[in-house]
Formats: sequence, structure tokens, C-alpha cells
Amino acid sequence: MSNYKTIAVEKREQIAVLTITRPDKLNALNKQVHAEAVSALEDLRKDKTIRVVVITGAGEKSFVAGADISEFGGQTPVSQRDVFQSASLFNVLDTFPKPVIAMINGFCLGGGNELAMACDLRCASEKARFGQPEINLGIIPGGGGTQRMTKLIGETKAMELILTGDMIDAPTALRLGLVNHVFAPEELEAKTMELAVRIAEKSPIALQMAKEAVKLASRSNLDEGLRREVDLFAICFSTADKEEGVAAFLEKRKPVFKGI
Ligand code: COA
Repeated sequence: MSNYKTIAVEKREQIAVLTITRPDKLNALNKQVHAEAVSALEDLRKDKTIRVVVITGAGEKSFVAGADISEFGGQTPVSQRDVFQSASLFNVLDTFPKPVIAMINGFCLGGGNELAMACDLRCASEKARFGQPEINLGIIPGGGGTQRMTKLIGETKAMELILTGDMIDAPTALRLGLVNHVFAPEELEAKTMELAVRIAEKSPIALQMAKEAVKLASRSNLDEGLRREVDLFAICFSTADKEEGVAAFLEKRKPVFKGI
């Protein structure tokens, strides 16, 4: 049993749902949320039964409304730098070996949007609203917002959103490529879980290789990316899952991947 106070982790067969549980503060990310989420992800990383993680916020109003502004007082440059250093939630997600889906049920602002962008896929409610409002506080995004948003939607729109701090609605986020899907609020959970289950049925090793390869595209030049892709592709040929996938295709049946 876990002793988490600001998050909850529920395991539904091969899917783990990690919920940030501060709805009265619109699930703002304070230090405790960061620490507990990092610790939970470490457990989920090791848990062989879990193949996909879904991250969401409690309540109907907010996914995550940003870093907890009430913790900003008294912070020093060094302490703030520390929050986003190597073991930060965002960096842990970045190298997490299993697919992570953000299930965005409402406000997705500042550190919340950075959290969503550090996930691999984003499913949003029609009611969700997105933005990087840090500029209104006299600061800038520090959890990857300027970098990940620019890579996801391009400099033209990222620059405007970051300089104005304006919010955009879910259809706009979909059009810009910030999210993968937009669903009616009452369908968000079922549709997101449907996607998670479909992915969880694949080979976990192939998923890990695929995730690493896709991420390389925006972090390396083409030659380096292509070289690394071939290596990751070749690793798949060492797995029993590859034998199973090929056999199942030839035998016209559904494969059962074991992650070996
Ligand atoms: N940090 C700390 N507390 C936050 C918060 C944040 N990022 N976002 C919301 N809250 C708190 C509010 O202070 C309020 O607490 P209270 O009831 O104790 O006063 C509670 O959550 C509800 O928020 P409220 O502002 O009353 O809701 P609203 O519907 O009027 O407005 C927002 C919603 C999202 C527009 C507004 O809360 C907001 O602008 N939040 C800050 C977003 C932001 O700048 N994020 C980036 C931080 S770097």
C-alpha cells in the first residue's frame, strides 16, 4: 500500500492510472506532487505487469493548473533550478520506458501543459484549456515549455502562446497538433482507456524501442537518427515477442506478447 497524499495510483490490469489529487488547488504541482509522482513512476517502471501509464487530474475542472504559485515565495535561483534538474518529473517521463498518456480533463496550464507535453500522447476533454501563462507572473516556462511546445507545434504558434500567456481551447490544441484526440467530457476516460488498452496489447519491448526512436527524430540529425533507428529495430529481432508477432500473423491469429 502506498502512502501518497497528493497522488493516487490505480492499477487496471496492464494500465496504471496516476491521478494528481489536489482538486481544490486545481491540481497545481507542488513539491510533494513532484516527489510522489517521481516515486510512483519509479515503481511503475519496475512493475512488469504494467505496460501503459495514464496521468490525469482529480475533479472535473482541471488537469493541472501549473506549478504551485504559493511555493514561489522565498525560492532562490538555485532551489528553482533544482526542481527541474535531472530527476524532475518531466525528465523522468522523458526517459520512461513505457508509453504514458496524459488524460487532460480541464485546465492544462504552465507546468500542467509541460507535464502533458512530457507524456507521449495527449487525450483531451472538449472542455480542456491549454496555455503557458508564466509570462503573466513575470517569469517564463522552466519545465520544458519553450522547448517541447516549439518542437510539437512549431515556433510560430509556440512563440505567440508563450509571449501572450493566452489560453487556447481543445479544438485549437487539436488543430495545432498539441493533443492527439479531443473527446466529449463524458467519453474522455473510456476513450483514453481504449487507446491505452490497444497500446498495452503490443510488445512492451517494441513499444520502448519505438518510443526511443521517435523521440530521437527531434533530438538528433537525420543520419544519427537513422543509425540509431536501425539499432533499435535490430534489437527487436532478439525478442521472443518478434517470433510471436510473426508467427501470429502467419497463423492468422492475434499475437500474445510477453515482453521477452
Ligand atoms: N498554484 C497554486 N494555486 C493555484 C494554482 C496554481 N498554479 N492555480 C489555481 N490555484 C488555486 C487558487 O489559488 C484557488 O485556491 P483558493 O480556493 O484557496 O483561493 C483554487 O486553486 C481555485 O482556483 P481559482 O483561481 O479560484 O479558479 P478560477 O476558476 O477562478 O480560475 C484559473 C482558474 C486556472 C484561470 C486560475 O486558477 C489561474 O490562473 N491559475 C494559475 C495558472 C497559472 O498561472 N499557472 C502557471 C503557474 S507557473
